[in-house]
Amino acid sequence: PTGLLSDTLARPLQDLRISVTDRCNFRCVYCMPKEVFDKDYAFLPHSALLSFEEITRIAKLFVAHGVRKIRLTGGEPLLRKNLEKLIAMLSELKTPDGAPLDLTLTTNASLLARKAQALKDAGLQRVTVSLDALDEATFRRMNDVDFAVAEVLHGIETAHKVGLGPIKINMVVKGGMNDQEILPMARHFKGSPFILRFIEYMDVGASNGWKMDEVVPSAEVVRRISAEMPLEEIEPNYTGETAERWQYKDGGGEIGVISSVTHAFCHDCTRARLSTEGKLYTCLFATSGHDLRALLRTGRNDEEISTAVAHLWRARSDRYSELRTANTKGLTAVRKVEMSYIGG
Ligand code: GTP
Ligand code: 5AD
Ligand code: SF4
Ligand code: SF4
Repeated sequence: PTGLLSDTLARPLQDLRISVTDRCNFRCVYCMPKEVFDKDYAFLPHSALLSFEEITRIAKLFVAHGVRKIRLTGGEPLLRKNLEKLIAMLSELKTPDGAPLDLTLTTNASLLARKAQALKDAGLQRVTVSLDALDEATFRRMNDVDFAVAEVLHGIETAHKVGLGPIKINMVVKGGMNDQEILPMARHFKGSPFILRFIEYMDVGASNGWKMDEVVPSAEVVRRISAEMPLEEIEPNYTGETAERWQYKDGGGEIGVISSVTHAFCHDCTRARLSTEGKLYTCLFATSGHDLRALLRTGRNDEEISTAVAHLWRARSDRYSELRTANTKGLTAVRKVEMSYIGG
């Protein structure tokens, strides 16, 4: 069944990605480069953040409109104090047909080993972990805060043991930086319970200095892996899945490739994003959002907010990645919001 709301390109509203903090303890070169996110960078003050009650109130309205998956992101979501309380509140929500939500979270795993059990107990179903290399020096160059690979792997194992799964591992591939890690990562996770996904480096935000020649096309990733460990493409799990799925012909499990640069997936994009301070963005690459917090904090009732959301979604026409593909030079001049603020 499709959602209850449909945008100008007939795309239903099915996913809500909520950024719970704009802060992170990593400085990944493709996301929060140190030169920009330094000690003087103005992160949001606590009063600007949506409270757990405000987030839950908005989420409930979205679920009534057809949202079936909620993903908590950031920044690093586990830096938000008492996050398990929010998870407990969100896990109470039910879709109109009574099904539980797909409730998940994207994390760098730095605090995952410590928090996995509490997250599971609060009702979180699964996690997705970012890991860009197995080689120590390369990983430290990517996260730029000297964080160790072993700690991330320990976080993944702990999350698996407490039953948070299926766990996906996201690797952003930046050409000339970590693309030599494609094969080691594939070998490491082949045959494991974890699904490794390779993400094309994207031109999100305004600070990562993105260049097309640093993108390693997914076709190249698949070619390199398949040369050593033959792969075949398989059907998506659901319409609008970000990743294209490939399985090892020898039964060693599957990988995914997320090709938002070379093979945009806007035509089926069902995702809305709620920023840390409560602005609604209808595209990852939007330049401005709609201030839902203002509605909450000026005493509007649920019906008014729900109508505003419906209105915004029905008017939606975003398809940035497809337009970028059509015109690779023209589109990066506008000031886009940072991914750590809007939520990856
Ligand atoms: P599943 O629910 O496990 O299928 O996860 P997902 O792929 O929807 O979410 P995840 O956070 O793991 O997304 C992986 C990566 O895909 C993100 O970190 C982004 O880099 C990219 N991505 C996710 N959604 C979008 C989107 O709407 N547009 C673009 N261009 N990229 C996206
Ligand atoms: N390109 C692609 N993916 C990115 N992420 C952050 N910045 C970028 C970028 N420029 C991804 C990270 C993480 C998620 C939060 O977003 O890999 O998995
Ligand atoms: Fe932090 Fe994730 Fe961005 Fe890296 S990609 S800086 S871990 S939010
Ligand atoms: Fe959706 Fe925008 Fe990403 Fe296209 S670029 S898939 S419309 S978020």
